[in-house]
Amino acid sequence: MQVEDVKKVCVLGAGAMGAGIAQVCSQAGYAVAMRDIEQKFVDAGFKRIRGPLMKRVEKGKMTAAEVDAVVARIQGTTDVASAVKGAQLVIEAVPEKMELKKQVWAEAERSCPPEVVFASNTSSLSITEMAASTKRPDRFVGMHFFNPAPVMKLVEVIRGSETSSDTIAFAKSFCLKLGKEAVEVREAPGFVVNRLLVPMMNEAFNLLLEGVATAEDIDKAMKLGTNMPMGPFELADFTGLDIGLDTMETLFRETGDGKFRPSPLLRQYVRAGRLGRKTGKGVYDYTASP
Ligand code: 3HC
Repeated sequence: MQVEDVKKVCVLGAGAMGAGIAQVCSQAGYAVAMRDIEQKFVDAGFKRIRGPLMKRVEKGKMTAAEVDAVVARIQGTTDVASAVKGAQLVIEAVPEKMELKKQVWAEAERSCPPEVVFASNTSSLSITEMAASTKRPDRFVGMHFFNPAPVMKLVEVIRGSETSSDTIAFAKSFCLKLGKEAVEVREAPGFVVNRLLVPMMNEAFNLLLEGVATAEDIDKAMKLGTNMPMGPFELADFTGLDIGLDTMETLFRETGDGKFRPSPLLRQYVRAGRLGRKTGKGVYDYTASP
C-alpha cells in the first residue's frame, strides 16, 4: 500500500483518542469512518470534535463552514463492516485491553482485503501480539498519537517483530500527510514517551503519598521548574488515571522491574473511580468547575 492510495481511513473507537484521530484525518482531507459499539459513544465522539473546533470559530481561527466540512467527512457508525468498507487504513483506538483489541481486529479482518494496513494506537501494549492474532502481521504497525491528537505534533510509529519496512515507510508518510512528526520506535513496553512520562507521573503519586508536598505544589514545581505545560497531576487527570495505571501495570508486568511498580495511591484513586476529568474527579475535583 502506498500513501497516495489512501482515500478513506477507518477509526475504531470514538473516545478521546479515536475522535481526535478521526478529526486529524478528516482535517487532512480524508474520508473517515468513526466506529464505536453504541450510537451514544459515536455521538459523544462528534461532540468531542465539534466542541473545540467551535471554540476556534469563536476566536476567528476557523469558519463554521470549515467545521461543518470536517464533521461531514466523518461517517459515524456502530457497524464494523460498513466502517472498514473502502478503507485503505484502519486505526484502532479502543480501550487498553489486549483481548478486546484482538476481538476488534478479528471483526475488522473479516471485512478487509489483505492489502489494508492495520494500525493500533495502543499506549503500551504489544504490537507483535496484536499483529500475530491477524493474518497480516507484516502490514500491522503501531501509530501512537498523543492527547489531544489534533494539537500534539508527535506520532510514535512502532515496529512490531513482523512489521515490514514498507509498512513502516507507509505509516511515516501517512503521518506527514496528517501534518504530524513521526519517530520510529522498536517495540518495547511503553515505547519511548510513556516509558519516560508515565513513571514520572507515577512517582508524583508516591511523593503525594509520602506527604513530601501538596498536589498543587508538585504540579507548580514541575511546571515552573521544567516548563511542562501541565503538572503531572493535571496531566494524569487530563489523560485519565486508569490509562496511567494500565501503562504502569504493563511496564511492571513486562519488565518485572520494581522501578515501574504502580503507586498505591494511583491504584487507590482508580479503584475509587477517580479517573480524572472524565469522571469529574481525579487528583483534583472538577465537579465545581463551570
Ligand atoms: N482541535 C483543534 N484544535 C484544538 C483542540 C482540538 N481538539 N484542542 C485545542 N486546540 C487548539 C486551540 O484552539 C488552541 O489554538 P490556538 O493556539 O490557535 O488558539 C490551542 O490548541 C491550545 O488550546 P487551548 O488554548 O484551549 O489550551 P492550552 O493553551 O491550555 O493548551 C494543551 C492545552 C494543548 C492540552 C496543553 O495544556 C498541553 O500541551 N498539555 C500537555 C498535553 C500532553 O502532554 N499530552 C500528552 C499526554 S500523554 C499521551 O497522550 C499518551 C497516552 O498514551 C496516554
